[in-house]
Amino acid sequence: MSTTNYHIDQERYAKCIEVSKRVRWDIDADIIRGREFDFSQKFLPDGISKVDQLDFLSSDEKRLLSQIQGRTYANMFGFVERFITAKVLETTRDHWLGDQTALEALIRFSDEELKHQELFRRIEKMMADGMPEGYHFLPDPDAVATAVLQNSTWAVLALILEIELFTQEHYKHSIEPEENLSELFKDIFLFHWKEETTHAMMDELEWPREDSKLSAEERDRAVDELIAIVGDVDSILQNQSAADADYFLKLCNHSFADSEVRGIKDVVLKGYRWQYIFSGVEHPRFQKLYQELTTEDQRQRVGAALATLN
Ligand SMILES: [Fe+2]
Ligand SMILES: [Fe+2]
Repeated sequence: MSTTNYHIDQERYAKCIEVSKRVRWDIDADIIRGREFDFSQKFLPDGISKVDQLDFLSSDEKRLLSQIQGRTYANMFGFVERFITAKVLETTRDHWLGDQTALEALIRFSDEELKHQELFRRIEKMMADGMPEGYHFLPDPDAVATAVLQNSTWAVLALILEIELFTQEHYKHSIEPEENLSELFKDIFLFHWKEETTHAMMDELEWPREDSKLSAEERDRAVDELIAIVGDVDSILQNQSAADADYFLKLCNHSFADSEVRGIKDVVLKGYRWQYIFSGVEHPRFQKLYQELTTEDQRQRVGAALATLN
């Protein structure tokens, strides 16, 4: 519980507050601005959706699959932000009576995630209005958050860092450089990215701080919890990718060969695994901290679990 023996890097939290104040945005005034989604354009770029691997699809079908995946992409953020906010608020407890700069930075972090959840709820309604009935986002945010938060803070902070790093990676490398996307969809992830940059910085401060409290045995258990969480995330991805592929197949007005149906389902599942697991875990900043906090044996256990997802 106590932070007395752990050095708090106040300057880095102060930097997060400064950036947070500078980039702060409003859902309507800055992002939506009375606009609608442009359904003549893709939502998720090929670099994230991987729909370009399905060369038997027409360009209209590729665009539709990118829009379905984009809808799930937005819903996934709204969904993970439920447990992220709860965990960040919980970590503030250690700073209530301690470093007030760290406390303010983390309060801003949770406030931003609450706003992001509101943003993603708003745009889900807008996307639903422009798409036919039959789409389902399956995971329940509170039920999953309840399960995730039963794990140690170490394991949950590792997951949160992984998520916040891939958010940045996807925007910078795939969404920003792509010209032919719905303008509103692109702006949502531009503004989301702006406020997310400080979150990963704070995760990089909070995860080692939490690590410093653990014994070797506790950390070893936390690594096993992290492996189990990744398994649970993968179950969610298997179910959601199947639901999204089925919705897509229903909307296409011709039938596909069995091998093509399998190809579509495989690409969507592989895409989701890359989006939500591998692009975060393989991120150099995640790897740097993870190597510092874990042993060779622990990394081998994680690696073996990840290898089953390929
Ligand atoms: Fe967010
Ligand atoms: Fe975040």
